[in-house]
Amino acid sequence: MSQPTIESILQEHRLFHPSAEFSQKAQIKSLDEYHRLYEEANADPQAFWARLAETELHWFQKWDTVLDWQPPFAKWFVNGKLNISYNCLDRHLTTWRRNKAALIWEGEPGDSRTLTYAQLHREVCQFANALKHLGVQKGDRVGLYMPMIPEAAIAMLACARVGAAHTVVFGGFSAEALRDRLVDGQAKVVVTADGGWRKDAIVPLKEQVDKALADGSVPSVTHTLVVKRTGQETHMQGDRDHWWHDLQKQVSADCPAEPMGSEDLLFILYTSGSTGKPKGVVHTTGGYNLYSHITTKWIFDLQDTDVYWCTADVGWITGHSYIVYGPLSNGATTVMYEGAPRASNPGCFWDVIEKHGVNIFYTAPTAIRAFIKMGDEHPKARDLSSLRLLGTVGEPINPEAWIWYQQVIGGGRCPIVDTWWQTETGGIMITALPGAIPTKPGSATLPFPGILADVIDLEGNSVGVNEGGYLAVRHPWPGMMRTVYGDPDRFRRIYWEHIPPKEGQYLYFAGDGARRDEDGYFWVMGRVDDVINVAGHRLGTMEIESALVSHPAVAEAAVVGKPDELKGQDIVAFVTLEGTYSPSDALLKELKQHVVNEIGAIARPGEIRFAEALPKTRSGKIMRRLLRDLASGVEISSDTSTLEDRSVLEKLREG
Ligand code: WTA
Repeated sequence: MSQPTIESILQEHRLFHPSAEFSQKAQIKSLDEYHRLYEEANADPQAFWARLAETELHWFQKWDTVLDWQPPFAKWFVNGKLNISYNCLDRHLTTWRRNKAALIWEGEPGDSRTLTYAQLHREVCQFANALKHLGVQKGDRVGLYMPMIPEAAIAMLACARVGAAHTVVFGGFSAEALRDRLVDGQAKVVVTADGGWRKDAIVPLKEQVDKALADGSVPSVTHTLVVKRTGQETHMQGDRDHWWHDLQKQVSADCPAEPMGSEDLLFILYTSGSTGKPKGVVHTTGGYNLYSHITTKWIFDLQDTDVYWCTADVGWITGHSYIVYGPLSNGATTVMYEGAPRASNPGCFWDVIEKHGVNIFYTAPTAIRAFIKMGDEHPKARDLSSLRLLGTVGEPINPEAWIWYQQVIGGGRCPIVDTWWQTETGGIMITALPGAIPTKPGSATLPFPGILADVIDLEGNSVGVNEGGYLAVRHPWPGMMRTVYGDPDRFRRIYWEHIPPKEGQYLYFAGDGARRDEDGYFWVMGRVDDVINVAGHRLGTMEIESALVSHPAVAEAAVVGKPDELKGQDIVAFVTLEGTYSPSDALLKELKQHVVNEIGAIARPGEIRFAEALPKTRSGKIMRRLLRDLASGVEISSDTSTLEDRSVLEKLREG
């Protein structure tokens, strides 16, 4: 099993229709209905989004302008006032949903907890008051470095409630990476836990926070708020650190949601790009609330009795939009799981589905491939009959894995939504609507209503049917990122001027390669820039290179991705050493560990190759395409005539 190749995908013509039974009950019931919605949105995008904003969300004050578009800067629902935590909690309390399960949590060691909407509301209000007690005010930023426990969602909603922006840092990132993000976002408070469970081991999160904050290296941080999860020995520093359970006893559970402007900052989430350090993707309140809400409702076809489970981590955008905000805004029951697939517990996902009667299940192709390898006997030994809809996200899915998912997990009866989107887009952009759009294994199918997706060349012209090109979006949408935090120029350059605007027409450049087939279906082929996607995690080659060259032994480093059966891609680093160092197994290990310390375990190179020199052009640019081919063990496809020194290539080949 491997990544889809162009050949395998071009041969993929199977078409899967939803059953009549599924379609009849679905939110969007037919292809005609999808087309009608798409046309409605196309004819008058502002009227379309305004209609949904009006009917789907609660507003303290209505907007006066739907869209103020000063390319590439958009403002949606200008002068409207709302609060996403109100939309996720308060508005359900006056309905029968008050005592419905909002969050079902399954802990790694087997503990679990269910919070109804009323209970979740209460905890969020208390947490919000605890943040206020620590001096957090509307407009501040709060860093979250959390395990997958209910308090992660509670803290996010509490920030939103008081009008502070959260910046969640994935708990697998190192102290160094955490520090960079806290500094960039100028966080005032850090919310963390003593530890969290990750694959049979405890991650000492608070210890990492201490390292990140050591010697006053993040001067903006005045306090930390620490949730007790694992109970291990934890150092608490004087006036700076506070236990959540201590503060909880002191604060009231009354905390009205702060009316926020539509364009007030909701959160910053850092993501990797092809250049420089990770960028802070900025999302604001109104547009994001609407977009995460309506995509969840239509794509996951939420019905009131459903139990919905997305396996992402809240440290990524998928966790933000499709564990927390989208499902709760819809009044759904959302499952949160602290564990991860691994050989020591090969049935873990299927146990959760059986135990909680999960109806809708959303995961990554990498997880699916890992489970295929662990064997069909594990899912087959569980009752998965509650499932009615499956989803995937994060990377292209190879048709073999799609079919396995459909047959073995979905029992042949569940539609699959393959959802293409990005941290920057806020919500899903290209996907099937499960009761309406027939699916093809490996294709994300069609754009969501209101999304003018296209495949273009570098001049911005649409390419022909089945021709390869670049994925782009031709019109702003409510969930789009607003800017790069603190760097609007970078936002403009990377996303909107990569394709030079013609006659004021700005195109959003996604950074993915794609093709559209004769039915208009999109086939996303993967990144076209220096971003690699390892097990659905997005990493910049530059970040890993910087980490490597910060080690005294390394003179130069070039990092590329190579296809990997399980992870989609794996990291290969080519490294030249400083004069006094020579290659050894010990150094190899040390360098891998160095990357883990600098970034986190997700960035550990699968392979490091020592080289005498790196292949460069005469102007000194590293020839990455060539290294990619070498790493993948395929024929060199790039032009080598520009190579400055051909012997470098020969030596690399010899290894
Ligand atoms: C890739 C994750 C193919 C793509 C939500 C994109 C996909 C990057 C798919 C964004 C999919 C995501 N098919 N590729 N269904 N979904 N991608 O920001 O390369 O972590 O640009 O957001 O993941 O990754 P990010």
